[in-house]
Amino acid sequence: MLLPESQKTSLSQFKKKVGQTVHVNGWMYNKRSSGKITFLEIRDGSGFVQAVLEKAKVSKEIWDEAEKATIESSVIISGTVTKHPRQEDVYELQTIDFKIVQLSPEFPIGKKEHGPEFLFENRDLYLRSKTPWAVLRIRDQVFRSITDFYFDEGFIRFDTPILQPTSCEDTTQLFGLKYYDDMMYLTQSGQLYSEAGIMSFGKVYDFGPVFRAEKSKTRNHLSEFWMMDAEMAFYDQQMSEDLQERMVKRILKDVLEKCSTELKILERDTAILESIVNTPFIRMKHYDAKKLLEEKGFSVNYEDDMTTEEEIEIGNHFKIPVFIEDYPFAVKSFYMKNYIDDRGMKRAKNSDLIAPEEAREIIGGSQREEDHDMLLNELTARNYPVDEYQWYLNIRKYGSVPHSGFGIGLERTVRWITGVHHIRETIPFPRTTVLSRP
Ligand code: 4AD
Ligand code: MG
Repeated sequence: MLLPESQKTSLSQFKKKVGQTVHVNGWMYNKRSSGKITFLEIRDGSGFVQAVLEKAKVSKEIWDEAEKATIESSVIISGTVTKHPRQEDVYELQTIDFKIVQLSPEFPIGKKEHGPEFLFENRDLYLRSKTPWAVLRIRDQVFRSITDFYFDEGFIRFDTPILQPTSCEDTTQLFGLKYYDDMMYLTQSGQLYSEAGIMSFGKVYDFGPVFRAEKSKTRNHLSEFWMMDAEMAFYDQQMSEDLQERMVKRILKDVLEKCSTELKILERDTAILESIVNTPFIRMKHYDAKKLLEEKGFSVNYEDDMTTEEEIEIGNHFKIPVFIEDYPFAVKSFYMKNYIDDRGMKRAKNSDLIAPEEAREIIGGSQREEDHDMLLNELTARNYPVDEYQWYLNIRKYGSVPHSGFGIGLERTVRWITGVHHIRETIPFPRTTVLSRP
């Protein structure tokens, strides 16, 4: 019953197969019948196509088999590929043979409206629906664009450990676990290890799951998410922002070019995304961002991080990505290079990249403190276990160089590009503050 690859056609290939007889393996997504003609919507993983079955043109046996087919029954269909009589770029299958592989009992996710909680409790089944299909294919493209970009830019992939003895970001957000007779933590970011990596390879990136025990129940927070960290030797913050901008433009360009079907399913208005591909990003200081918000009527705190509402407003105001630079050092991580500004405030040489359309921060990055003693002082001032960071301090001992890096959150980026409401829609099986099954 199983067809070798050479004999089956994926639905995404239909464009090139008009007029030919093909065999398709898939599932029945939907069906409507008039008694003389049946329209079966078929999906095969690569796409969705309507198969037309005319009673007058097939045997009674085939017609009855199709009548019997239920939603999500697995099927094998043969037929001729035709262009849709009216719709541009849509293809159909004129069915000549139809077999059920397994007849599905009534599928729990029907055509009726289900609440989001129901869909997430049944995530394993909901994944078959068009929305998650489109979102997760865009995720795949974003992943690929990022890795292609780094390959083209001469980086090497440098895989960092998931189990780490220390913290990279906020020490209160660690998931700890028993590691033989000791404690280890699930990684928050591979950055510290990537910094060791650039001393051998110059430019490196990692890409994998990271973990934050953040109690934030926003539509922008996951407890397990995927991050790409890039780290570059002989790089300052501005060079790093140039690289980030090129990367984001590459992602958008690829998705707009390669995922038009998926964007259409999501009914995504892509006007802003398209305009961004050819527009320079805004770069503004944290102080100026706060000032702008104050002028717009926000009651701002100049010494604090950007709030959710502030990030959303900055995005809506400019409608292109904005690098907010030089945050108060006190609200940022210990490893950031810092300086005292004209007003006497200690500031990080860093940036958060704020995406428009309410997507908020998608990238965080900075120039790193390259001076051994400055870094040691900061670790001490923050009460970090200095012994555990000895290897990290060593990076500043043997041929230290100015260096910079950043991390992009895959799910935040996908949420922005797809325009879905909640970040949990952008990962196959989301992990949030509530224990999730599956
Ligand atoms: O800004 P963050 O915390 O930066 C770092 O971890 C650095 N060590 C990265 C580096 O310089 N190599 O996290 C980076 C990005 C954020 O901009 C955001 O997109 C994403 O990771 N992120 C989250 N995504 C989903 N859920 C969460 N709880 C997230 N926390 C951060
Ligand atoms: Mg951040």
